[in-house]
Amino acid sequence: MERMHKTLSRNGYWTINLIVLLCNFNTIITESCQSKNRTSAFLPADWPCGWMSGEIPFVFNFYSISGIQRLISLVQKGHNYLEKRSCLKFVEYDPMLAVKIKNFTYLFYNYSGVLESCCWPYYNRPVGRRMVLITPVCSLPSEVAHATLHGLGLEHARHDSFNEINAKAALFSYQCPDIQVKLQSFEGIRRS
Ligand SMILES: *[C@@H]1O[C@H](CO)[C@@H](O)[C@H](O)[C@H]1NC(C)=O
Ligand SMILES: *[C@@H]1O[C@H](CO)[C@@H](O)[C@H](O)[C@H]1NC(C)=O
Ligand SMILES: *[C@@H]1O[C@H](CO)[C@@H](O)[C@H](O)[C@H]1NC(C)=O
Ligand SMILES: [Zn+2]
Repeated sequence: MERMHKTLSRNGYWTINLIVLLCNFNTIITESCQSKNRTSAFLPADWPCGWMSGEIPFVFNFYSISGIQRLISLVQKGHNYLEKRSCLKFVEYDPMLAVKIKNFTYLFYNYSGVLESCCWPYYNRPVGRRMVLITPVCSLPSEVAHATLHGLGLEHARHDSFNEINAKAALFSYQCPDIQVKLQSFEGIRRS
């Protein structure tokens, strides 16, 4: 285990603490998805049971060598943006381990230098790796956050915003210390 930890820190951009990772392993292996209640009826239909606590696992595509530093920086800003405004929490995983966990659903951040849209759900299977494509078109923290919400399964019509009820369910169906303040500002933003 000590050796594994060293290997991870040497190679990795990921910051995951091995203890946390092993705890999550246990949870996934021992929890039965089917018996776990949905925390809200308004969550996207394919919301994984592993996300019911509001903790969203993610990895970076380390093969996108050219854009990796830019990708990491943008995604961190996007996650900070969302964490400040919701009860979601993003937890980085080692991509080699994430791929081995059975039925593990996680965001897979990939960078493209092409001017492609980020405003799109880039995954087609609800379970497993869900790609979130970050391109030069989405470089503001709010734009990266928007791309992330597509990865979480939220959708919207062209030139429209996300459905407020579904967005609220995805962002706030969990406990967090300052939920009341965050909810008020969410509702303030949506109303104005
Ligand atoms: C799960 O849902 C069932 C039926 O709606 C309810 O009776 C039960 O108390 C719920 N369990 C938990 C842990 O919330
Ligand atoms: C994995 O997912 C499939 C499809 O959603 C489901 O049928 C199966 O029971 C899951 N297995 C575990 C161990 O949760
Ligand atoms: C990452 O994005 C690039 C550019 O769109 C694409 O060519 C590549 O297939 C993606 N990588 C993976 C693993 O999906
Ligand atoms: Zn969009």
